[in-house]
Amino acid sequence: MAIQFEKVSFSYRGVKDERYPAITEIDLKINEGDFLAICGHTGSGKSTLVQHMNALLRPNKGRVNIFDYTLPLKKKQKVGPIRKKVGLVFQFPEYQLFEETILKDVMFGPLNFGLKEDEAKEKAISACELLEIPEELYHQSPFRISGGQMRKVAIAGILAMEPEVLVLDEPTRGLDPRSAYEVMQIFNKLHQEHGKTIVLVSHDMNLISEYAKRVVVMKKGRIVFDGSKEELFEAPQFNDFSLAKPEALKLMDYLHENLNIPYKYVYSDQELLAHLKEYVGE
Ligand SMILES: Nc1ncnc2c1ncn2[C@@H]1O[C@H](COP(=O)(O)OP(=O)(O)OP(=O)(O)O)[C@@H](O)[C@H]1O
Ligand SMILES: [Mg+2]
Repeated sequence: MAIQFEKVSFSYRGVKDERYPAITEIDLKINEGDFLAICGHTGSGKSTLVQHMNALLRPNKGRVNIFDYTLPLKKKQKVGPIRKKVGLVFQFPEYQLFEETILKDVMFGPLNFGLKEDEAKEKAISACELLEIPEELYHQSPFRISGGQMRKVAIAGILAMEPEVLVLDEPTRGLDPRSAYEVMQIFNKLHQEHGKTIVLVSHDMNLISEYAKRVVVMKKGRIVFDGSKEELFEAPQFNDFSLAKPEALKLMDYLHENLNIPYKYVYSDQELLAHLKEYVGE
């Protein structure tokens, strides 16, 4: 097991010490090799939940087991080893950038974990190459590039640490469709070819249906669904979750209702196309 939540609650503290509950009694197990998506309305607690996964937030109640560590940590226990195992790409990660140059920014994590300068540089360069950040940008300021490029730099900074679990909070929000596609392809490759465990927070049901294996739906700080992607979209109570249907399924509905094409649950354009080809007998 990579990460396990046991009855975890967390509330934010207001200026007068009042409490605002954000997640309540969360039980969740994430296995190594999972591709888990977390969705739900804005304010339902997704970001709060995932920030517990690398000890950025600590539970007020309950425990989070992260590999061999348990939150809340004991006194004197350091968070470094947890962050090395679980890399978190924030919602709007471009706010995390701070170094003078892009390469230095991406090197920060590996250096912080004790790698020598040249080793850190090597890891940073391979992460930049993976994200196709052009070499001529390496020595530029991360504040003088576009928002999409900044996002890629921030993601490279996390990948350079080679975490086993990648937690991605809305990684494609605000990216143009091509960059969003490229970034998702990279995460998918890390999952498929390098066995990384992926936790993806997203509002985008197309992304979720195409890439995730398992989906958790949150509502008002609680988990209201946890199951396979197929179980979610094929569940009779799907409409109760107020989630959008993925485009491929919407199109399938239309083709079934208007052209009598036999219904099949499809989760990507490719799957829909394969189904249509089979139907027309190609
Ligand atoms: N720093 C904070 N201080 C006080 N309350 C907060 C803080 N951050 C979030 N909250 C509250 O906690 C609850 C959960 O917020 P959270 O950011 O986890 O939701 P979310 O599901 O990630 O939303 P979104 O889809 O908009 O990113 C919300 O009611 C929010 O207003
Ligand atoms: Mg959020």
